[in-house]
Amino acid sequence: MEVIIQSDRQSACLLTARMIAKAVRSKPDLVLGLATGRTMETVYELLAEMCRRDKLDFSKCRTFNLDEYVGLAETDETSYRFYMNKHLFGRINIDLKNTHLPNGRAKDLKEECERYEAKINEAGGIDLQLLGIGQDGHIGFNEPLSALRSRTRVKALAPDTVRQNSQFFSSPADMPRRAITMGVGTILESKRCVLLATGENKAGIIARAIEGPITSMVSASALQLHQHCTAIIDEMAALKLEKIDYYRWIFKNEPEWEEYQ
Ligand code: GLP
Repeated sequence: MEVIIQSDRQSACLLTARMIAKAVRSKPDLVLGLATGRTMETVYELLAEMCRRDKLDFSKCRTFNLDEYVGLAETDETSYRFYMNKHLFGRINIDLKNTHLPNGRAKDLKEECERYEAKINEAGGIDLQLLGIGQDGHIGFNEPLSALRSRTRVKALAPDTVRQNSQFFSSPADMPRRAITMGVGTILESKRCVLLATGENKAGIIARAIEGPITSMVSASALQLHQHCTAIIDEMAALKLEKIDYYRWIFKNEPEWEEYQ
């Protein structure tokens, strides 16, 4: 895994948005894997601004989100479809037909998971997968002990996640206890991954994911197996990393990152 450290939250989000923009420019029909959560809101705001100001063109892009809660309608303000329409799709020139999230209200959830995997394959696989990380190390909703080769499926949410995400619901009891999520194996098949994490409260789990052993107890540690994964983190989230000077050196000196200085 390649680790890129940025001074603060805004710079980490800006670097992520610029990497996505570069990928969209070099392949207009890019298949983009998307994530939700507070961290991504700034990235989406920046992409919307690039679309408006620099004419970054999403008209041919196709997107696949990592996950969706079971039982929530698209119109429900706490659904991830609602989040995506609000923060990104409604603000860029993407064709909504080309945006995909699992349907958490499908009658047959197992069939829906298979359909979702097939759709990703039909699109030729994911070119660039954006990822956040939960306090328990989840990517998507791959909670601890998710098999490292798991595919899109229904996953019961861990108590930590319920605690962390129930703030978005009017009462904790309203929060669904299950979600459809791409599997760890699905994520590992993407051609490139970008993991974005900011803030001191992510420092412990980031150190375990990046420098710790690969374990299904921390799903994000499976990214160490990915062919091309870049972790972009701010100084606060980097606090517990051992090889921090090496990572700083890479950003300053490796040719790939020159254009982002
Ligand atoms: C949710 C999503 C994850 C995301 C996480 C991070 O749980 N299912 O994909 O990584 O939020 O959230 P935040 O950015 O708010 O810390």
